[in-house]
Amino acid sequence: MQETRERVLEALTEGPVTGPELAERLDVSRAAVWKHVEALREEGFGIASQGDGYTLVEVPEFGGDAVEYGLDAPFDVEFHDSIPSTNARARDLADEGRADVAVLADEQTGGRGRLDREWSSPSGGVWLSVLVRPDVPPARVPAFTLAAAVAVARAAREAGVDARIKWPNDVVVPGEDAQGDEIERKLSGILTEMEGEADRVSWVIVGMGINANVDPDDLPSEARPATLSAEAGTVDRRLFTQRVLEEFDELRGDPESVIPAWREYATTLGKRVRVDTPGGEVVGDAVDIEFPGTLVVDTGDERVTVAAGDCEHL
Ligand code: BTN
Repeated sequence: MQETRERVLEALTEGPVTGPELAERLDVSRAAVWKHVEALREEGFGIASQGDGYTLVEVPEFGGDAVEYGLDAPFDVEFHDSIPSTNARARDLADEGRADVAVLADEQTGGRGRLDREWSSPSGGVWLSVLVRPDVPPARVPAFTLAAAVAVARAAREAGVDARIKWPNDVVVPGEDAQGDEIERKLSGILTEMEGEADRVSWVIVGMGINANVDPDDLPSEARPATLSAEAGTVDRRLFTQRVLEEFDELRGDPESVIPAWREYATTLGKRVRVDTPGGEVVGDAVDIEFPGTLVVDTGDERVTVAAGDCEHL
């Protein structure tokens, strides 16, 4: 958020303040104060103006400035009502040299999932891509995917949803199918992209697709989707997105803590799995996960470590 706008919001939070007082406090013209107040109103901030000045009376449910307002993490948040893909937009920002930006949308018209699959992103979701520039080799990038999965799972759990993590990057909710058989329904998927050289990444984009207040009828049923609203009632997407960004920020600063946190919510460990890897199929018992995110599978003959692949719980 622009710095003066942030300071206007801070001042309005503290209580009634007149335009001239604000102008003097922030060392800007009265016209500039008026411009910022109007811009904030247009974004949905409720700003009452009475005899004793302006007061902030309402923060919008969603939006860039809304998510930045009170956010305890150093991300600029760029919001779009509708955009083809937040990951694609984050790539453009990476090309412009930006860092620590979160691109957020209410709806995506060309959302992309792993393996170039389509990702349904109707209005009501939290479609979020975080652009970071960590000083790490490419081999450590999977830890960022796991960090995002943990961040989403924690925020969902705080919202009252029994969210678990399916290796490597799906946040799922346990449930039953029409026959009463146990299934896992997908609440969120993560698509991580990166650019860099052999020993150092240039940027990492972690794209999180979270079915927040989405109407389940707008999602493909074969994907067995779960939504936050169906699980726990309509969520405040502003507060939810803030929690995701704050958790992600904390975990990226302490990568070694990602694996224990991931294990805490893991649904894959202890299960029999089939993993489709670039090198072929691996079937066995998922026994552990190791830094930066490899799954250890006991096939009966040997322990195989799997770095990437599509994982099915058997
Ligand atoms: C998956 O296949 O499970 C990953 C889905 C990732 C979707 C998110 S939504 C925000 C970001 N923008 C995209 O186009 N994709 C990711």
